[in-house]
Amino acid sequence: MKILVTGGAGFIGSHVVDALVASGHAVSVLDDLSTGSRGNLPPHVPLHVADVADADAVAEIFGRQRPDAVCHQAAQMSVSRSVREPAFDARVNCLGTINVLTAAAATGCRRVVFASSGGVLYGEVTTPAPEDTPADPVSPYGITKWVGERYLGFFAREHGLTTVALRYSNVYGPRQNPHGEAGVVAIFLNRWLAGQPATINGDGRYVRDYVHVADVARANVLALTAGADVVAPGTLTAFNVGTGIGVDVVMLEQRLRAAFEGLPHRAAAPRPVPTPLHGPPRAGDLRSNLVDPGRAGRILGWRPTVDLDAGLAETAAWFADRAGA
Ligand SMILES: NC(=O)c1ccc[n+]([C@@H]2O[C@H](COP(=O)([O-])OP(=O)(O)OC[C@H]3O[C@@H](n4cnc5c(N)ncnc54)[C@H](O)[C@@H]3O)[C@@H](O)[C@H]2O)c1
Repeated sequence: MKILVTGGAGFIGSHVVDALVASGHAVSVLDDLSTGSRGNLPPHVPLHVADVADADAVAEIFGRQRPDAVCHQAAQMSVSRSVREPAFDARVNCLGTINVLTAAAATGCRRVVFASSGGVLYGEVTTPAPEDTPADPVSPYGITKWVGERYLGFFAREHGLTTVALRYSNVYGPRQNPHGEAGVVAIFLNRWLAGQPATINGDGRYVRDYVHVADVARANVLALTAGADVVAPGTLTAFNVGTGIGVDVVMLEQRLRAAFEGLPHRAAAPRPVPTPLHGPPRAGDLRSNLVDPGRAGRILGWRPTVDLDAGLAETAAWFADRAGA
């Protein structure tokens, strides 16, 4: 299949590209490189540098590429920026999604898979939330994910597209940006590689569901390629992509620390790492958020396969290698 990945130069998108290339698909990428990088992509994969909010550019790229399916990962994904600049957030996340859906419908692209978020849709939940949990997004970023799903439903009904929303939990793994506000695994590793302690917000008893990016990439491949008997034309299907297993930040720091300290010792990464500091709690942080991946298992045949400790060790090794440590 010919598949276009928006945001394909980013953390999750580039792993989706790798998984699609490995499965023999013809992949191209649309990305404005605002947070992504060319270096995340295999050299042979065509990259169209464009803004998803630019309707003409998106239409032109779809017209040239004529993809069979699109995997829409491109987004402004900072919750705090969405609070500060809701119009910018809506421009990228709402208009961008409308532009991708419009161009898909106009050029015969039959399927759109959308990166949504269980975290921002379900809010505070202490048991794994199934997909029919009422959505109650509180930030502009969360609102745009909810609205994005509504637009998918509209384009599915109006144009017969097959649309799938993958509601990720907290994704971690190689290539995650350590300078963002999310991605605690990347942030902690980056601190340790600089010889500094990790800072845990508040008491750290904030429970999250950590899913490895390779599992997320596989969920995207399944959603992009499953037959019409699995995801039907003219419909929107939402799937949670997470493990349903909650781990709080204090425990995560300990397990990541064990993985990091277990790496072969090279001089540039001081070990043992300093004990963590506790900073003030972050306003609005949920105490608990986790998703139930049962539907993806039953319908797509997707299950998370990467054990957390193995995934943390692999991620720690990747960050250490990249830092030359
Ligand atoms: N990382 C997570 O835990 C998580 C959780 C839930 C949902 N998501 C969603 O998954 C998707 C990918 O997130 P990620 O973690 O890989 O982030 P990322 O920042 O690494 O990737 C986003 C990519 O989109 C590109 N992009 C941003 N704005 C663009 C624009 N206007 N036009 C074209 N390209 C643009 C960036 O350059 C980048 O390559 C996003 O839609 C995000 O909202 C991520």
